Amino acid sequence: MTAQLNPRGDVAVLVPAAGAGVRLGPGAPKALRLLGGEPLLVHAVRRVAAAPSVHTIVVAAPAAGVAAVRELLAPVAPVTVVPGGAERQASVAAALAAVPPGPQIVLVHDAARALTPPELFESVAAAVRSGDDAVIPVLPVVDTIKQVGAAEMVLGTVDRAALRAVQTPQGFRRSVLAAAHAAAGDPLTDDAGLVEKQGVPVRCVPGSEYALKITRPFDLALAEHLLTTGR
Ligand code: C5P
Repeated sequence: MTAQLNPRGDVAVLVPAAGAGVRLGPGAPKALRLLGGEPLLVHAVRRVAAAPSVHTIVVAAPAAGVAAVRELLAPVAPVTVVPGGAERQASVAAALAAVPPGPQIVLVHDAARALTPPELFESVAAAVRSGDDAVIPVLPVVDTIKQVGAAEMVLGTVDRAALRAVQTPQGFRRSVLAAAHAAAGDPLTDDAGLVEKQGVPVRCVPGSEYALKITRPFDLALAEHLLTTGR
């Protein structure tokens, strides 16, 4: 059944899904890889649409696949699909430009984090609503982290207590994200990095193990298992 979005919601969610996903091996673009018989993007959008504050969803698709992605998502939720760019940052900028007037909170969410629970969209949006301009979901780092130099020789041990692994959705006051993209220089791998460059404080909130990024074959196997447990 097609989900209904909330016409009184204050949140737009941008889903960059235009990457090739070479780390998963050859085949379809990563967002269209199958997980439990459905593309990652379908899983991701279904969970975005289940978050009660969501007013608008904009997906950036591979330029050659816009019509196919539109067709794919039509039964899932009302979604605007735009062509993505050569870099993730360009795909996000294209999606941001397609957000209609209204929502003042913008979340940016990677399609590769296909099992992210609806509650995480709500908790990130709630933090922005309560006054933070930029909010990222994070997990503590469990491994010991070493800095290495030439020939894989260890240069030092980083203090793990001060490190966080960053997930999506990343949440922003709309005007702050728009200004950061307008001023953007070299492409970065996340949007919080762009607003940091503008001197905007970024708040961390608790992330979710289920928001794992499905990047390598092992992640796909783990996600398949999680799906069978009802995720
Ligand atoms: O390559 P990476 O794993 O960092 O990609 C993160 C997300 O950005 C993926 O959902 C991918 O589809 C998206 N992306 C995009 N446009 C690009 C490159 C990546 O929308 N040109």
